[in-house]
Amino acid sequence: MDAKEIISKLTLMEKAALLSGKNEWESRDIPRLGIQSITFSDGPHGLRRQEGAGDHLGLNASLPATCFPTAATVANSWDPSLGEEIGAALGEEAVAQNVDVLLGPGLNMKRSPLCGRNFEYFSEDPILAGKMAAAYVRGIQSKHVYSCPKHFAVNSREYRRMAMNAVVDERTLREIYLTAFEIAVKEGGAKTIMSAYNEVNGQYANENKHLLVDILREEWGFDGIVVTDWGASNDHVAGVKCQSNVEMPNPGLDSARELIKAATEGEGRITEEEIDKAILPIIEAAIYFKENDHTKGFDKEAHHAIAKKAAVNSAVLLKNDEDILPLKAGTTVCLRGPFVDKPRYQGSGSSQVNSTKVETIREQIANYDLNVTDDPEKADVVLFFFGLDEIAESEGADRMSIDVPEYQIKELEELTVYNKHIIGVMSAGSSVKMPWLGNLQALLHGYLTGQAGASAVLDIIVGKEIPTGKLSESYPFAYTDCSIVNYANTDKRNLQYREGPFIGYRYYDTADVAVQFPFGYGLSYTTFEYSALSVSEEGIKFTIKNTGNRDGAEIAQMYIGKSESGLIRPKKELKGFKKVWIKAGESVDVEIPFDDKSFRYFSTVSNNWEIEDGEYQIYVGGNVRDIELTGRITKKGTITELPYDIESLPSYKTGKVRNVHYEEFEKLYAAPLPEEKVGPLDINDALCQMKDAKSGICRLVYKVLKNNLDKSYEKGVPDLNTMFIYNMPFRAICKMSGGMVSRDMVESIVKIANGHFFRGLGGVIGGFFRNARANKKYEARLNHKE
Ligand code: BGC
Repeated sequence: MDAKEIISKLTLMEKAALLSGKNEWESRDIPRLGIQSITFSDGPHGLRRQEGAGDHLGLNASLPATCFPTAATVANSWDPSLGEEIGAALGEEAVAQNVDVLLGPGLNMKRSPLCGRNFEYFSEDPILAGKMAAAYVRGIQSKHVYSCPKHFAVNSREYRRMAMNAVVDERTLREIYLTAFEIAVKEGGAKTIMSAYNEVNGQYANENKHLLVDILREEWGFDGIVVTDWGASNDHVAGVKCQSNVEMPNPGLDSARELIKAATEGEGRITEEEIDKAILPIIEAAIYFKENDHTKGFDKEAHHAIAKKAAVNSAVLLKNDEDILPLKAGTTVCLRGPFVDKPRYQGSGSSQVNSTKVETIREQIANYDLNVTDDPEKADVVLFFFGLDEIAESEGADRMSIDVPEYQIKELEELTVYNKHIIGVMSAGSSVKMPWLGNLQALLHGYLTGQAGASAVLDIIVGKEIPTGKLSESYPFAYTDCSIVNYANTDKRNLQYREGPFIGYRYYDTADVAVQFPFGYGLSYTTFEYSALSVSEEGIKFTIKNTGNRDGAEIAQMYIGKSESGLIRPKKELKGFKKVWIKAGESVDVEIPFDDKSFRYFSTVSNNWEIEDGEYQIYVGGNVRDIELTGRITKKGTITELPYDIESLPSYKTGKVRNVHYEEFEKLYAAPLPEEKVGPLDINDALCQMKDAKSGICRLVYKVLKNNLDKSYEKGVPDLNTMFIYNMPFRAICKMSGGMVSRDMVESIVKIANGHFFRGLGGVIGGFFRNARANKKYEARLNHKE
């Protein structure tokens, strides 16, 4: 039977049930028609397959799997073929562990360095993020499983992530926040997409017609499954109407009942045809996954080697005074810092992998031709392993600052008394401030290296491998230098993206703000020289020579700008890149083609992608601030009408967007800005908003949550459950309770919070029994026992 035939045989009750999850990780099955459940699993840099009782934050252990470097790390390789190799390995592990859909990669834009999940995301640049994500998708899907890029879209903060509205102008939305997803879908062929928790311009991502229907399905031609983030569904009927296919994780049958009611009663909010349309990709997937052979297992050692290769090729050398690195054989080293014995190699939250094994520096150092002493004074060099603590990089919480913890810097400063030759090896999945850089003679930034990180960085330290990574994000001198500093930390529900397109280097470069390390920066043990740029309609050609005495790799970057423009524009934007391996003394001719994204901008006049008429500047170099070659090309425009008079948007014209006025942003937004809701709590408010609830019990619950949260910060270990619940809205209670709680009951809980204790309690108790009866009846019908 093909998918359409199966659908014709389903009852409405079966259809409605198929559109939400059966348990934490599986969709529903319909055995009488041979429809199997689809099994989802995290995660983006390693499988987190839970057997037995599942919980989405990994409180119960998962099966051992390879922990590859996180996305933030691998993005520094600028090597899509490496991403594809990791993807293929992830795909193999997915099949081996009976997983059909791998929930990754994560590709939200790094708008602020404080986002707690930056370590899971590739970049501040959509082209780099998109190309890397598409590569992962191709790799994963080559193994007959689906990849699920996430979180679609504009999900760039953890605090109140499930109860906030991203307010972003259309052009910025398209060019900055959606382009990476577009590439993952069109070039990667992603078959699943995860809708984000937040609202985008006033509508939940999961019921946002503009995002899910107009753009994802119609413009990009996506024909796969949209799955909600865990607990992200708000109005299930509205979601299904927008062809969101599976509501996860386990709302019981309450959502299915809502759907049936909407299809059969009243004004008919949804038709059965719309429901059929939403089921089709689920049935197609269930048929596709049926043939997977889950008995094969995977080669642990081979995957460990891929994890190591990825870590080696993604590490970034940021400083190397007097070429202290690589170390010569026989050098005496002293190992110091918190990560010598206990590496920080991945982040916390739903992406956390139970690694097959984890290397440590202490144990790996014995494999190298180095002498080790405990006395920093007797050592030729001190190797200092430091970086961000676990609590700083976790799902569910943003960072408080971009500082490396004080206690580590104290240790570093103390070491300088004994030895001036200190080499820092840093572990952190996001940018940090570096006022301490002067204490280090060299700095190798491994990011979050995955399980094979220790031997990977030691290979680079001794020169067995050459560093080839470059930063996929900018490193500001201070958080206050960021364009978003006045907009990103608000307590308000409406999170205004007032900086427009000027995030990361687009801001620093345009507004001329000095940075510690620019986007695209990274040193090598060799040097390169660029020459002979030629520009044609098809793209650019140039030559790179390896002028040092070691074979190495250079990541050449092509940026495009338009200095004379009637549009808001960053000075230059990345439009292509290539990592080229070049032997010592040799030259290589490099070609970077133009593509559909090289010159386009999104016009809110035509509601389409257009090209502005005139001359464009082409910049080629080793990072955004280090341009070696420039050229130009003239393009014929596709439209003359401009969306605004740029003179009326002075901050955006200059890129100096740190203090944009409400009125100026409103002009760019081209619609009245949404007002903050006032009044009593509602079902979509976050539990942390119970702080000021009328009900004393709710204020107490808030205090307990806050207390637990503070304690976990004191300990430096994230309390994932509390972090999740703290930011979760009331409505998520019914989406995640396996059918115990219905939406009606949640409405009653909110009544309690608003001070109507007895009315609310009555509703909760009555609702509990009504819900249990309705669930029982539905289950009986589904199992054909009634
Ligand atoms: C995260 C997703 C993850 C899901 C399932 C959510 O909290 O935002 O990235 O895939 O949980 O674990």
